[in-house]
Amino acid sequence: MAKRVLSGIRATGRLHLGNYLGAVKGMLELQDRSDLETLFCVVDLHATTTPYDPKTLPQNTRSVILDYLACGINPGKSALYVQSDLADLIAQLSFYFSTVETIARMQHLPTFKDKVKQHPNNVTMALLNYPLLMAADILIYKAELVPVGIDQEPHLEVAREIARKMNDTYGTKFPEPVRFATSGEYVPSLTGEGKMSKSVEGSYISLTDNLELITKKLAGAPTDSGKGEIVPPTGGVANLLKFVELFEGIEKRKMYEEKYMGEGIRYGDLKKELAEAIYKELKPIQEKRKELEHKTSYVDEVIKSGAEKARKIAQETVLEVKEKMGLVKKLRVNNQ
Ligand code: TRP
Repeated sequence: MAKRVLSGIRATGRLHLGNYLGAVKGMLELQDRSDLETLFCVVDLHATTTPYDPKTLPQNTRSVILDYLACGINPGKSALYVQSDLADLIAQLSFYFSTVETIARMQHLPTFKDKVKQHPNNVTMALLNYPLLMAADILIYKAELVPVGIDQEPHLEVAREIARKMNDTYGTKFPEPVRFATSGEYVPSLTGEGKMSKSVEGSYISLTDNLELITKKLAGAPTDSGKGEIVPPTGGVANLLKFVELFEGIEKRKMYEEKYMGEGIRYGDLKKELAEAIYKELKPIQEKRKELEHKTSYVDEVIKSGAEKARKIAQETVLEVKEKMGLVKKLRVNNQ
C-alpha cells in the first residue's frame, strides 16, 4: 500500500514565504511521487485555539485553499480539504488520544509556552490540546511523512509518542510519522530576529506582495556597515544572506560573503536584486491565484471531493480505534 503524506496549514489568512518554502515546496515535491498518497488540509479547528474572529475565519480558510492551488497543489494528485469538514472524526480521535497523554507533557512544550506568553488570558483546554489535534490530523490517515517547517518538530515528537502509547495501551497499529524537510525549512524573519511569522509585524513577505511592497519590506530589514572580518552568523545581515541563498542560489551568497570580507557590500544593490528574485518566483503564483478567485464552483468541488476521499480513510481508523478501546461491539463475531 502507498505510504501516506499529510500536512496542514493554519487558517490565518494569506500564506507567507515561510509557509511556502518550509511546507508547500515539500508538498509539491511529494505529490509527484507515485509511491505516495498525499493529503493536504487547511486546519481551521487549530485556528480556534487562539483568539480569532468567527466572521472572518471562513474567508481565511478559503484563502489558504486558493493559495495551495495557486502554488501548484494538484487536486488530481492530492486530496485537498478543510479540517472542520471532518471535525466529527478528527476531534473525536483527538479525544481518544487524550486518554494516553498527560497534562504535564503538554504544558512543557515550547510551542505551548510561546502561546501562553502571547495570549496570557487565553490559556484554554483547546490550546493545551493543540498537539493532540495535530496528532489526530496525521494519524487518522496513518500518515508516515509530514512536510512541515522545522518549528513543528516538537509537535511531531508528540504525534510519535501518541502513536506508541496508543499501540501499547490499546493494540492499535499507528506508524510513527516523520517530518519531511526542505532546504528552505528555516525561513528567517526580516526583522533580523527569529523566524518569519505571521504574528510578528515587519517579519514576513506574503505570497501576494507585489514588487513594490517586497522592496519596501526588504528596505526595512536591518543591516550594518557592509564590511567586516567575519560574516555575522545571526541577525539582520545573516538573514538577508539566507534569503539570497534561498532565491538566488548558494553561489550568489558566497559572492556576497566574499564582498563582506573584502571591498564591502552595498545593501541597496543587494536588496534590489533580492526583491526582484523573490517577485519573479511569486508572480506566476499570484497570476494563478487571480484566476482561481473567479472559479468558485470549481474550488467548491475540489474541497468537497477532497473531504470525501479523506473521510473514507479517516472513518476506518476511528472505527478501528473505537473497537480497540472497547467503545463499540466487535463487528466481527468471534464464536468459535
Ligand atoms: N501546527 C501546524 C503549524 O502551525 C499546523 C498543523 C496542524 C499541521 N495540523 C497539522 C501541520 C498536521 C502538519 C500536519 O504549522
